[in-house]
Amino acid sequence: MTENIIDRNAPIGVFDSGFGGLSAVRELQALLPSENIVYFGDTARVPYGTRSRDTLRKYAVQDANFLASNNVKTIVIACGTVSSVAYDIISENYDLPVVGIVSPACKAASEVTRNGIIGIWGTGATIKSRSFENEINRLGESRSEGFRSIAVACPMLVPLIENGYIDEDCEMTSIAVREYLTDIISAGADTLILGCTHYPLISDIIEREWHKFSDGKIINSGEKTALEVKRILHEKDLLNDGVGKGYLKIYSSDDMETFSHQAKIFLRYTDKNSGSEEAYFSPDKIEIEKY
Ligand code: DGL
Repeated sequence: MTENIIDRNAPIGVFDSGFGGLSAVRELQALLPSENIVYFGDTARVPYGTRSRDTLRKYAVQDANFLASNNVKTIVIACGTVSSVAYDIISENYDLPVVGIVSPACKAASEVTRNGIIGIWGTGATIKSRSFENEINRLGESRSEGFRSIAVACPMLVPLIENGYIDEDCEMTSIAVREYLTDIISAGADTLILGCTHYPLISDIIEREWHKFSDGKIINSGEKTALEVKRILHEKDLLNDGVGKGYLKIYSSDDMETFSHQAKIFLRYTDKNSGSEEAYFSPDKIEIEKY
């Protein structure tokens, strides 16, 4: 019943603690170029991964409220941490499709693993919640030998990424990546879920280091989430019927200058071949505590 009143040409709402969720936006734009997107990065309160469950649930509701105030047609929780601890509260609060990253990423991992050993990287709060492990175990129930998972918290990665240490040859980030791969490699995992949407921003480094030891697969949760958004919008007959390129409006709760600089690099606005066009970066800080 609710679906009837959702405007199919309304924007898709996407949020994250910072600019990590743009990894999902980039995939959404590639998959669904005519969709309009409103993005919120809670840069005044990043990182989320070190916060308590109660605080995260409060932040998650405020972030989703901001998106809802922009009349979005669906809410994409492009944040592993929020997807892990507050998916329930957001999906209960709105009569809109809500998509998180946990289930699409785990499903993809379960489909590509050959030896059934799946590595999971996430923030401290994500790993503590065991969200990915529980979902992997659930998916393993239909398989006689189940799946094994090895979960590693990577607290240094989000601060490095938010501060721009994302170049392929960045030694500092490479050292952190090697450190966090140690247990994954010892466990014999052949698949690694990037359970935080920030991590695809350093996928060059992760792939290089991982492939020194393994020919296994890396699951980009932003990419898998974008595929799930497409599937759900299609199923609910909510795909935008426009033919032109959709807009991307980006809001944040702190100074937009650094954010927009990083976002433009990440969205490859300098890359002629990407087909990306400039997004609208709102110059006004969103007072997120008001939502
Ligand atoms: N990108 C987020 C995630 O996927 C948040 C990371 C953080 O702010 O700590 O978990």
